[in-house]
Amino acid sequence: MKKILILNGPNLNLLHIRDKEIYGYSSLENIEKECLETAAKIDLEIQFRQTNSEGGMVEEIQEVIDKVDGIIINAAGYTHTSVAIRDALDIFKGAKIELHISNVYKREEFRQHSLLSAVVDGVICGLGTHGYPVALLAIEKILKG
Ligand code: DQA
Repeated sequence: MKKILILNGPNLNLLHIRDKEIYGYSSLENIEKECLETAAKIDLEIQFRQTNSEGGMVEEIQEVIDKVDGIIINAAGYTHTSVAIRDALDIFKGAKIELHISNVYKREEFRQHSLLSAVVDGVICGLGTHGYPVALLAIEKILKG
């Protein structure tokens, strides 16, 4: 069974109290449940993680570097600033998808640049929290070639 890390960055633990217009009504816990259901249907094993710290995200990636087949990452605010997370992702040679709940291109200019996009296979954004199961379906296809 292929293994996938779904890694969430800062403030996504507070999704249920963030701006509903932008992030919708799901909590991160609900998203995890939805991901577990989707993963079971397509035979993927997932680890679902969240950390508020940049170093924590780097450590999560390093920890699975030779243990998982793919990474789905919503680095949240660090998407736009973190060279360290980009470098860690670049070292990981499996399948990689960058994910955003909101359509970052409809938002402030500073959100329209990602340091991560150049080191991943694809980017999913603006599909709301449905982006998570969609990313699982997509990464499964990438892994199948
Ligand atoms: C986000 C978009 C980021 O710009 C923002 O800082 C987040 C969440 C998203 O999922 O839409 O925290 O990654």
